[in-house]
Order: sequence, then structure tokens, then C-alpha cells
Amino acid sequence: MADRIGNRLELSRRHLLRSFGGAAVAAMSLVPADSLLASPVFRQYPFQMGVASGEPSADGFVIWTRLAPDPLEIDYGMPAAAVSVDWEVASDERFRDIVQSGSALARPELGHSVHVEVAGLQPGRPYWYRFTAGRERSLSGRARTLPMAGAPLERLRFGVAGCQHYEQGYYTAYRHLASEEPEFVFCYGDYIYEGRSNRVWNGGEMGPIENVRQYAGDELYSLGDYRRRYGQTRMDTDLQAAHAAAPWFVTWDDHEIDNNWAGDHDQDGTPPAIFALRKQAAMQAYYENMPLRASSLPVGTSMPLYRQARYGDLLDLNLLDTRQYRSDQPCEDRWGVECDTLGRRDAEVLGRAQEDWLFDRLRRSDTRWQIIAQQVMMMDLDRTSGDVRTENLDSWAGYREPRRRLLEAVRDQGRGNTVVLTGDEHQNYAGELHIDGNHPGPRPIATEFVTTSISSGGNGVDERADTVAIQQENAQLKWHNAQRGYVMCEVTPEVWTTEYKTLDSVTQREAPVRTRKRMAVEHGRPESLAEA
Ligand SMILES: [Fe+2]
Repeated sequence: MADRIGNRLELSRRHLLRSFGGAAVAAMSLVPADSLLASPVFRQYPFQMGVASGEPSADGFVIWTRLAPDPLEIDYGMPAAAVSVDWEVASDERFRDIVQSGSALARPELGHSVHVEVAGLQPGRPYWYRFTAGRERSLSGRARTLPMAGAPLERLRFGVAGCQHYEQGYYTAYRHLASEEPEFVFCYGDYIYEGRSNRVWNGGEMGPIENVRQYAGDELYSLGDYRRRYGQTRMDTDLQAAHAAAPWFVTWDDHEIDNNWAGDHDQDGTPPAIFALRKQAAMQAYYENMPLRASSLPVGTSMPLYRQARYGDLLDLNLLDTRQYRSDQPCEDRWGVECDTLGRRDAEVLGRAQEDWLFDRLRRSDTRWQIIAQQVMMMDLDRTSGDVRTENLDSWAGYREPRRRLLEAVRDQGRGNTVVLTGDEHQNYAGELHIDGNHPGPRPIATEFVTTSISSGGNGVDERADTVAIQQENAQLKWHNAQRGYVMCEVTPEVWTTEYKTLDSVTQREAPVRTRKRMAVEHGRPESLAEA
């Protein structure tokens, strides 16, 4: 076999030398053999971005990789040609029992990414997968099919993570998350950040913070810019370990495109038709680099991302997109400023189609728990102590009408079993959801767990200078912390327990993780939220 490949390579090398000259061959990271599609030879290892799985169903999941021998180069080390990638799915870690295999094309149109939608597998069990291109083989990853819809499920343990600014800290938290062997990971976005910062930046009460590493390139605008940032991010082996450990359900927040973007609007007032060009590039790069199904392939500046998964009879996972269909932030998106547009009746967070879809799902759900997995905080916290009320207008607090509609829909469903999972804040919060958090009703409507960041914001602190004051100001807030880390949720039919996992440092590798807090809520009793 080795000889045959060697002979074919020699033939191909002579052919290329004849066709393009020696310089062209030297410049290419990949020398194709018989055709441009088969038996490629790579100058460097092509699976430097790792592997991933996602979007599990009861009979399959997506497996993903991207060929990128040189992820930081504009062509990421690949020629402008499609390349064949073989894949295998096994029922055991050592690939003794390969249950499915096939070939997929890594196309240049899609950044040489591969999204294989594997089907026909058994429900509720782990599988292992890997890829081969030419003579190169990827590391293997572990995926998991969903249990059958409606099947009894006594326990589920999964992870929640996001906000992973590459410059501001190491991804040690992801290494720890991988070792928890979660059933799945929900990523609430800010997988990349679109800007470029100076080496040292103002960390507020943390003082000047020095980046532990730097992004290649400048602010992202073109498809090539975004591709390179995913390439650099995904070369991190801690992140790769978390992807290889479990299937992910990914959603984006703002930084996959631009800070605080909302629908057709960026934060700088760029004409929507111009911003659309950047959005299109960013959406394509997001699709290319995430383990998503073809049903999420962007069309122009539209990318279908809201969807649902069901875990047996235990929970419905509703994954939302709070960016794409949103109306522009009120009060010119200035932090905490009140203005007339705050209560706008025509404001939208989900857009009517997604809202109708979600309300219908909530109405029809018959699982023990319902998750609303999304990006921005739903608790309408007052962010300052004293008489002046300060709210985060990029969160649901800046969209009072759609927030009221959603919470009323949850309340009218009347089961008290809804849990909202959120990111964006770079801090941990656990609290109750009321129609008006400033004047809470007798009984909360639902529970919200906000997960901090993997690395964004640098090391963070256990208690900020204003932590006690903010908790006193907000009766609905039950716990608050500003360290880095992730969340593990353990769900049984009777009790939901959220474990806040924190690290004391993200600027030093190998920092240990600890369970900083366990908060639990009983099924049907959102008023029972308390430390466990
Ligand atoms: Fe973030």
C-alpha cells in the first residue's frame, strides 16, 4: 500500500512539475496525486483544527473537521480544489467495530470543512469517529446519540460554556470540562472575538491586564479574516479536547460577527447594505467552523440557527438566536441610560417567526423540564446601588415588551419547570425571573443560570467591589460571582442542580478547577432556588 501511494506521488509530482513548474509545487502545501480529489499529500498536518461533533439526534449526529495545514495563512495551506476526506464511526474507542464509514468532499467554497450527517445509529449511546485524508489521520472524538424521544431518563449531566477571548486567557477551563465527560455542551457564543486589542488593556477594577497571547490579524471583515480567526482559535488543544469529548449545540452571540450587532445594525451605524457584506462573510465562516447540519447553511445574510432537541422524557432543549432578528438596541445602546424607546411596543428580540415557534414548543412540551438556551441575560437587574436604575440595554432588559411576552408565555404554560441558560455577561449569576424584577410578583416564573466566560475578561475576581450592593439591590438575584470557568447542569426528574466551576487564574496554564457554588431548584417550584 505504501509503495503504491509512493509511486502515485512520484507520478503526480512529475506531472505537477511539468504543468506548473517547480516554484508552484514548492509553494503548495498539498501535492495532489492521481487527481485533485484523491490521495493528497500535505506538507504539514492537515487536522490542526481538531475534530468536533454536534446536533445529535436519536440515530446520529454531525461530525466535523476542516483541512487546514497552515491555519494562519490566507489559503490555510490548501489549494483551490476539493479534497476527499474519509470518515469512520465506531461503537468502541479503539475502532475495532466500525459501524459506518464513507467519504466526503472538503470543498474550497466552504473553507475545506467537512460536515457529515451520520444517521442510522442506535439511540442513547456513545460513538467514536475520526477522519483520514491522504495518509494523514485525525485524532478521534466521542459523540453521543440522543435517547429516544419520550424514553424514561433518570439523570442527565451536561456542560455550558462560551465567551472565550483567545487573547485574554488560556482555555484551561475547557480541559476540565472535557474531563467531566458531559452528555453534551451548550455553547452560548462569543466563540471568537472580531476585534484586535493592544497587548495591555484597561481591565477596570482589575487594573491593566496583559494578554497571554495575541490574535493574528486585525479587525475581521472578510471571509478570509474570519476563517483565520477560527483557525487560530481551534488550534488550541484544550478547546479541541472539549470538542472531542462530547457533541456540542452551538449558538452565536455578537462577537462572531460584530460587537452588539442587532439584526441589520452594527454598533457603528454602518449602512445596513454595507454591514450585510460583513455579516455574510462572518455567517459563512461560522457555518464552516461549527458542527452544524446543512439546514443551518446560510443563504445570503440569513442563517437558520434556532432549533430544538429532546432528551427522552426529561427535557426539551430550545436553542435561540437573540441577534439575527432583533431590533436595534434602545437609547443608542448606551450603558444604563433610560430613554423613551425602552418600552417600544414594536421592539423584537427573537422576531415574530422565532417567537411563535418557541411559544408553540413551550405549549406543546411534555418533558419534565424545558430549557431556553440563549445568549443575553433575561433578569432585569439594576446594575447600580442607590436610587438611579441602571440596566444592560443589550440584554432582554432593553427590550421590555418582548421580554414580557416571553415570560407571560412561560407563566401561562403553568408548569414552573422552565430554566433559562445564558452567557454574555462574563460573570456568574443565579436568580429568579419575574415580569418586573423591580417589583417581583409573589412567585417567580422561571429560573435563570448565567454562565461566566472561559477566558474573556482575564482572571476575574470572586467578589467585585459592588457584588454585595448589587445583590441587596436585586431581590431576584440569589448568587453572583465574577470568576472564569463553566457550568455543569445535573438534571433529574425532581431536581435541577447547577454547579458553577471556577478557576482562580486563566493567565497561568494548568490552574485547577473547583466547584465554587451549587444552586438547586425543585421541579415545579421556581421559588425553591437556593444553594444546594
Ligand atoms: Fe463575551
